[in-house]
Formats: sequence, C-alpha cells, structure tokens
Amino acid sequence: MFCQQDEIFMRRCLEIARHGIGHAAPNPMVGAVIVHEGEIIGEGFHARCGGPHAEVEAVRSVRHPELLPQSTLYVSLEPCCHYGKTPPCTELILKHRIPKVVVACSDPNPQVGGKGISRLREEGCEVVTGVLEAEARELNRRFFTFQEKRRPYIILKWAQSLDGFMDVARDGSEPESYWITNDALKIRVHQWRAEEPAIWVGANTILNDNPQLNVRHAAGRQPLRVACFNPLPAEPERYRLFDGQQPTLVFVPEPHPQAENLEYCVVPFPERAKGELFPREWLGMILSKLYERQVQSVLVEGGRVLLDSLLSAGLWDEARVLTGSVTLRRGMEAPTLPQQPESTEVVQDNSILYYRNR
Ligand SMILES: NC(=O)c1ccc[n+]([C@@H]2O[C@H](COP(=O)([O-])OP(=O)(O)OC[C@H]3O[C@@H](n4cnc5c(N)ncnc54)[C@H](OP(=O)(O)O)[C@@H]3O)[C@@H](O)[C@H]2O)c1
Ligand SMILES: [Zn+2]
Repeated sequence: MFCQQDEIFMRRCLEIARHGIGHAAPNPMVGAVIVHEGEIIGEGFHARCGGPHAEVEAVRSVRHPELLPQSTLYVSLEPCCHYGKTPPCTELILKHRIPKVVVACSDPNPQVGGKGISRLREEGCEVVTGVLEAEARELNRRFFTFQEKRRPYIILKWAQSLDGFMDVARDGSEPESYWITNDALKIRVHQWRAEEPAIWVGANTILNDNPQLNVRHAAGRQPLRVACFNPLPAEPERYRLFDGQQPTLVFVPEPHPQAENLEYCVVPFPERAKGELFPREWLGMILSKLYERQVQSVLVEGGRVLLDSLLSAGLWDEARVLTGSVTLRRGMEAPTLPQQPESTEVVQDNSILYYRNR
C-alpha cells in the first residue's frame, strides 16, 4: 500500500530524472530521493550512460549518512542487481541498511526484471512498488519500447503549410531547404534533435534539402545521422550528410571505405518501383540494425515516402506535426494520420499537433 506522501516524493524522482534526457540513453532516465521523517535528505539522478546510477548519487548527496538506516529511498525504476558499468544498487542499499524502498516500476531489462526487488526483499528490506507507475513508464517510454519491442522508439516529425504541403514544388534547382515554420519552432526542432540519439531522413530529403541534421539553435548532444542510399549518390561530398562533422550511419547495398564519423553499413535493398513505399520487413531490418547499435530512439524528419512507409507499417510511436502560417498552393502533400491528435500547442502563429500510436 502507498499513500499520498509516497506520490509526492515519487513525483520529485520523476522531475529530476528528466534531467538525463539526451544523455542517459540507452539507459533509462532515473531519479531517486531519500526521505527521513518526511524530509528529503538526499537526491540524485542518472545523468549520463556509464555514469553513477540515481541511487548512488542520492546516497552520496546525504550529509548525515547515519540517518540512512531510518530512511526511505524513493526511486523511479527498480534498483539494478547486476554488475554493469557500475556495481549493483541493491548492494549499496543493503550496505547502508536502508530499510524501505519505494519503486515506481520494475525494470524491463532481462538482466534485472524483478530480480532487484526480490534481492532486496530476501534481505529483509521492505519494498513498495507501483507508485506513479504509469507516469514513470511514460517518462521512459523510449527505454521501455527499446527493451520490449527490441527496436528504437520512433518519433515522426514534419512541417506543413497551412494548406497541408510539406515541400514546395521542386524544378531541378540546387538542393536547398525551405523552412515552413517560424523561428520558435526551429529552436524547438533543435531541442528535439538533442533529446534523441539519432535522426533518420529519406534519401530524397538529403538530395533536395541538403540538411545538416545537427543541433545548432539549442544546447545539447549531436545526434547520429542516419540515411539509406541505393545507390550512394554520385559525388556524395556535395551533401552535408557526408561532411564528417558528426557521427553518421549510411545504409548502402555495397561496401564503401569508412571515413571519420562516417560508417557505411551494407544491407540488401528491396526491389521497388519509383515512389513505392518501403516494405515493413525492410524497415524492421534497418530498425534492428539501429537496435544492435543501442540507438534507443530515432527522430524521423521526412520526407514523404519514408514517413508514409513507417506510418503504413505501423512502425511509429509518436508524430509531431508542425503547421506554419504560409500557404504553398502546390508542392508535396504532407502525410495524413489515421487518428486525432492527443494535444495541440500554439506557438505564436504556428502550431504543433502531438499524436501517439497507442
Ligand atoms: N516539411 C518537412 O517537414 C519535410 C521534411 C523532410 C523532407 N521534406 C521534403 O520531402 C521531400 C522528399 O520526400 P520524398 O518523399 O521525395 O523522399 P524521402 O522520403 O526523403 O526519401 C525516400 C525517397 O528517396 C528516393 N531516392 C532518391 N535517390 C535515392 C537513392 N540513391 N537511394 C535510395 N532512395 C533514393 C527514393 O526514390 P524512389 O522512390 O524513386 O526510389 C525514395 O522514394 C524533400 O523535397 C523535402 O524537401 C519536407
Ligand atoms: Zn543501479
């Protein structure tokens, strides 16, 4: 059983866990709070993959460790019990004789999966589970999808004009991008890029827009850039994707020499007619290559064929549709989604529709 106070402290765990976004992956974002007689005496979160776990940071932050044997540890994910990059948190809890642990949800990682909770209980530690479980799963939706579906969490994103076009009509002009939305949304997209470990775009988007696909209007880590080419375009150095400025993964049908920050991965390509969607199995194969590389989530930034392929295969988790205030009258029509948005955000004269594939 848990009470309202448990929820208050768990909410704090979730709040601080979020600071790990963009850095914790492929690990989950985790927050921990230590409470003594109703007062928080320590807290910590998992700041980056390979770094200390939230529980370790929380215990370290306690000024009077002698209070630990009379305290409760709140943590947004089941404590680990395996030796990974850091020693198990269950042993830390037992060593400090923390008598009670409140957990939001169990860890879907097969190396943990309930074993952390059992280990603590076996040693006489009281463990309460399920406090704000839905919120904790929502916060770590990328991590849970990655563990449970063995593929990255997929966020589709595109910008469209007021009249529903995602690109101007192209007439063989030099590759260049056309911005549909306002500056505030440009910054937002860069924040989103910093939150996901990878960005995937279709080949035509590279050829037509020549995007940099980096984070420059916000602070944060540069994502891995992903694209598929069959064949590799002539003079790839014409395109920024191949500039070696940030980690880039290119799927191709034939081997090419690797270069700094530029990995070529050889995969079979499907036989398909021009403009035809990519088959589900092929998309699944690309996603499993990303899974093998521990890419926990991917932001798919178009174009139309790639977005439609993922939509029709049902291989998506979220869609974020940005609508600008321009009218294009002709060009490439934006995809349509089979359901209603779950929420809408208005940003000056633009808007963002948020969809979930439930
Ligand atoms: N508004 C937005 O948010 C947004 C975002 C991104 C892109 N866009 C626009 O969308 C347009 C591109 O969309 P799209 O549907 O044409 O394509 P896409 O989804 O970006 O890329 C997939 C297409 O790339 C083509 N392609 C060309 N060369 C290729 C090669 N060497 N290897 C593999 N595929 C190759 C394929 O054409 P075939 O079917 O002929 O094989 C395939 O249909 C761009 O002009 C861009 O401006 C808009
Ligand atoms: Zn741990």
